Amino acid sequence: MSPKSALTESLPRSVAARPAEAGPPSGVDVPAQTYCFEVLRYGQTPGDRPRFQAYDLVVRKKMSVLEALLTLQEEADPSLAFRCSCRGAVCGSCAMSINGKLNLACRVQLHTLATRRIVLEPLPGFEVLKDLVVDMDPFWEKYNRVRPWLHAEISAAQENRMSESERRRIDQYVQCILCGVCYAACPARQANAAFAGPAALAKLYRFVADAREGRSRHALQQQDAAEGVWGCHTIMECVGACPKNVRPADGIRGVRRKLVSQKLQRLLRRKTS
Ligand code: SF4
Ligand code: FES
Repeated sequence: MSPKSALTESLPRSVAARPAEAGPPSGVDVPAQTYCFEVLRYGQTPGDRPRFQAYDLVVRKKMSVLEALLTLQEEADPSLAFRCSCRGAVCGSCAMSINGKLNLACRVQLHTLATRRIVLEPLPGFEVLKDLVVDMDPFWEKYNRVRPWLHAEISAAQENRMSESERRRIDQYVQCILCGVCYAACPARQANAAFAGPAALAKLYRFVADAREGRSRHALQQQDAAEGVWGCHTIMECVGACPKNVRPADGIRGVRRKLVSQKLQRLLRRKTS
């Protein structure tokens, strides 16, 4: 089971089944308009170079960028490669650059864009495997490093015991769909390839801030480094980029606060002993 499927299974049903934040519904008829899609293509043959390929598509109904890509793949070019699954801003697999802005292709409706020239590129900062498909392994490796699960032993009887205010503390982090947009947008991660990045650290805080968590002090210390929470320069690109309104920088601040308070407690204990 991939880390992502493990996490999705742990989401409450109401969150996992939340409908797409995709604006007005697709499928409503609109006056026919021709869109030109310029897709950065790469990896079709060994040794090829990245190049833009243009496709025209006559659009007669409201549709998302992802629906347009699926139409182009079906009707114009079956070799066009991109990832998608849920089509509803839940699985996080269709993240890409759309006219220079990072977003989920299923979340962006064509009619909301100011132009009919749509430039599609893979997420920056990842190795491109083919066209719009990137290698997410470094992202998953860093995500796994924070051991993103509840470390507490919870009995079936205790499982749901969490007050409303305790739940609110972790709410935004539960919304994270691990799309990698914040990771791609983060300048600190671009400057320091070893930095864990916003998504992994925000997910760590999701568990640290969970009232049921039983994570030891030592488990957090791995992130007490430039590759961990101190690698963030608080540039906040992650907050503006996240398509699910998560504020990863808040989570990073939360882990920092926890680390500092653990250190202070240790100092005080030493002084009083
Ligand atoms: S925090 Fe937002 S941008 Fe980052 S991986 Fe999660 S959903 Fe995507
Ligand atoms: S296809 Fe799942 S988030 Fe876009």
